[in-house]
Amino acid sequence: MNQPIVIAIDGPVASGKTAVGRLLAQRLGYKFLDTGLLYRAITLLALESGLDLSDEQCLVEMANPLPFEVSFDDAGEVSLFASGRDIAPFVNSPEVAEATSRVAVVLGVRMALLPLQRQIAEDGRVVMVGRDIGTVVVPKASFKLYLTASSEERTRRRYQEFLNQGRSVEYREVQEQLIQRDYRDEKRAVAPLRKAKDAKLLKTDGLTEIEVVQSIVELLENS
Ligand code: C5P
Repeated sequence: MNQPIVIAIDGPVASGKTAVGRLLAQRLGYKFLDTGLLYRAITLLALESGLDLSDEQCLVEMANPLPFEVSFDDAGEVSLFASGRDIAPFVNSPEVAEATSRVAVVLGVRMALLPLQRQIAEDGRVVMVGRDIGTVVVPKASFKLYLTASSEERTRRRYQEFLNQGRSVEYREVQEQLIQRDYRDEKRAVAPLRKAKDAKLLKTDGLTEIEVVQSIVELLENS
């Protein structure tokens, strides 16, 4: 297989991009970066500092310079440390997820995260997943994919994920949050979620993660 250097995977909430991206990276022996973590990290730190999330200037100041460090372990997985503290375990709560899509609309926050993402892309052999990887962060990515699934399927997956984490959540609440996050991500002025023209489209309804990875490997082999 003619292996590309950067694989860009974009898609909406719970389209499967993180699980699939990670498996794909393992299969190819690439690094894996879920760029949502970077936005979540800034949001977590802003929430912990009691910042008003509608105060864009404060958010931009908080993001410059980046208040955390990113490193990859030998398995290609990322670690996030802020002032020596591992913050990865704290970024996945529903509260942080919801707040993140509000922080991610701020241009200055996106600009602050761009050089780091581009540096990681330049180092190569990486699967990067997010909302704007193929359109803004790495428009020249060797291979671009847009993963999606119906909003019912994505709600079911996200709900199940929260149950598996032992969180008590209402299905309706998960559904409303997903619709709101989709709306904010798709409608924002800066780097909105959309399929890059040259991205392959893959709908994952009814497919297992392994089946999606297999489909991507086939697309890669035929690209
Ligand atoms: O993918 P994840 O759910 O972790 O992303 C959290 C939020 O971060 C998204 O809803 C989106 O608002 C933002 N995000 C973004 N651009 C990216 C990755 C994530 O705007 N490349």
